[in-house]
Amino acid sequence: MSIVISPSILNSDFSDLRGELAKISGADYAHVDVMDNHFVPNLTMGLPVVEGIIKVTPVPVDAHLMIEDPDRWAPAYAEAGCASVTFHAEAATAPVKLARELRAKGARAGIALRPATPIEPLLDLLPEFDMILVMTVEPGFGGQSFIDGTLPKIARTREAISAANLDVWVQVDGGVSRSTIERAAEAGANVFVAGSAVYKAEDADAEVAALRQLAQE
Ligand code: DX5
Ligand code: ZN
Repeated sequence: MSIVISPSILNSDFSDLRGELAKISGADYAHVDVMDNHFVPNLTMGLPVVEGIIKVTPVPVDAHLMIEDPDRWAPAYAEAGCASVTFHAEAATAPVKLARELRAKGARAGIALRPATPIEPLLDLLPEFDMILVMTVEPGFGGQSFIDGTLPKIARTREAISAANLDVWVQVDGGVSRSTIERAAEAGANVFVAGSAVYKAEDADAEVAALRQLAQE
């Protein structure tokens, strides 16, 4: 299982996105959190800013859309050149149709679950997705603490993927740091989003390397 590190730029310095992105050139992706103030009580950026990020980022963009009506808005993020586009299961009307559309536009298709959203209704549909994002905090803000109660869901998700012999990634997002990444990896996650852990570190790329090392052990 390949280990993928995707630092979230949510808590980076938005007055210098180019410089902040340059700090994570050793990561696999840049995780970009799009929030619309409706699906979550926070507002970050939309397509025009994401297009700007795509122009200057040293690594591919992993877009996490915390927005209502992703059926309508998500395809444009794939068209803009995001390598991966993840929308929330709670917000999508036709998730399989949307995932197929994202793939047709050349992006990896991800589906995200809030901590209290079960994976079970999706288990027969796993082949339709490239990634399942199990949120390990309530979406909306960086800097929250990892919810251990999500670990069994990560494990059930990974078991179902392995049992079906699929190559679907399991992403965790929220409170991922040196002290929690091993638990998430052990449960079966292979894609790790870390926001404050990476951007609060003195050397962001060294933190990415340290997290990668811990996840691999
Ligand atoms: C929260 C976002 C996360 C956030 C993670 O809703 O989806 O990507 O940036 O931040 P940390 O790693 O600080 O919990
Ligand atoms: Zn996120």
